Amino acid sequence: STRALIDTLEADRHLDRNQWIAFFRGRTPEALEYLSTRAREVSRKQFGRDIYTRGLIEFTNYCRNDCYYCGIRCSNAKADRYRLTDQQIMDCCKQGYGLGFRTFVLQGGEDPQLTEDRIACLVTAIKDKYPDCAVTLSIGEWERSSYERFFRAGADRYLLRHETADPEHYRRLHPKGLSPEHRKQCLRELAEIGYQAGTGFMIGSPGQGPEQLAEDMLFIEQLAPQMIGIGPFVPHHDTPFAGERAGTVEETLYCIGALRLMLPQALIPATTALGTMAEDGRERGILAGANVVMPNLSPLGVREKYELYDNKICTGDEAAECRDCLELRMESIGYRLVVSRGDHPQAGKEE
Ligand code: SAM
Ligand code: FES
Repeated sequence: STRALIDTLEADRHLDRNQWIAFFRGRTPEALEYLSTRAREVSRKQFGRDIYTRGLIEFTNYCRNDCYYCGIRCSNAKADRYRLTDQQIMDCCKQGYGLGFRTFVLQGGEDPQLTEDRIACLVTAIKDKYPDCAVTLSIGEWERSSYERFFRAGADRYLLRHETADPEHYRRLHPKGLSPEHRKQCLRELAEIGYQAGTGFMIGSPGQGPEQLAEDMLFIEQLAPQMIGIGPFVPHHDTPFAGERAGTVEETLYCIGALRLMLPQALIPATTALGTMAEDGRERGILAGANVVMPNLSPLGVREKYELYDNKICTGDEAAECRDCLELRMESIGYRLVVSRGDHPQAGKEE
């Protein structure tokens, strides 16, 4: 039964491929309830009722890539493109620091005008000014030498979702030129360099079923990343996937619970996409085993332009409003936002 699989997963932190497939096929409201309870207990043991925050700075929506699911893909001529200046980015950090953020996430499309120099300088500037803060980069695929340079400049973490571990499925989501092997190679390099590395994938993307999800879980087990970002696929009206079905909150919560049981110490956000699919999506994410939230620090004027998918929440809210909103939301379920870098429990320790 699914319940027995959940018990096995909790005890062994492992399922084999066939067990994973049965686990995903066996998702019922009762199984989700049981899994969430187990996963919630595991995160309480690790993190208590502390929720880590990261200030998300979406600093460019230019992108050379053309991922079929993404609203800022290069073929979307309707996207209103912007890039923040260094000054604007530093202003976001300043505001964020005042609001209690001790991690800044610099996220953007693969902007062809971005240079290794600019990123390295930005990271150095932020770390000089805020030595007690962590910097996370989420800027896609670069050469190993560039990742090394960013790391030397002081970057602490890197987010690069593998998107799907099934190569055929990867090709259904991406045009030629993007390869699943290269994506995975980047992730291995990031880990070797010493980053706290984050991977992840969308839930309910077109062509995803129990088999694909099983591959994702096996890949993540093997990579053992420090962070795992997952959220529902949400269609964007100006993409080839405009007419596809969105992933559901329940599927997403089920995956969060599974990931928590597999990697008890992982940093797992309750994502904005989850909050987009249900008013209380992020709260439910926490109650299913997530332990991180990533409110938006981008300037109000560009919020709606970083439109990865339709109906994205918080595009009209000031950074302070988002922070307060999340604080209330977390308190309503008995958790608290903490002023902390929120590193992985093993970060900096010897292997
Ligand atoms: N360019 C960087 C990269 O590729 O890693 C960072 C930015 S990218 C927009 C961040 C993530 O957004 C992707 O990894 C993808 O999983 C997610 N995303 C893009 N389009 C989405 C959609 N329609 N629904 C849900 N998530 C989406
Ligand atoms: Fe932005 Fe709630 S987190 S308004």
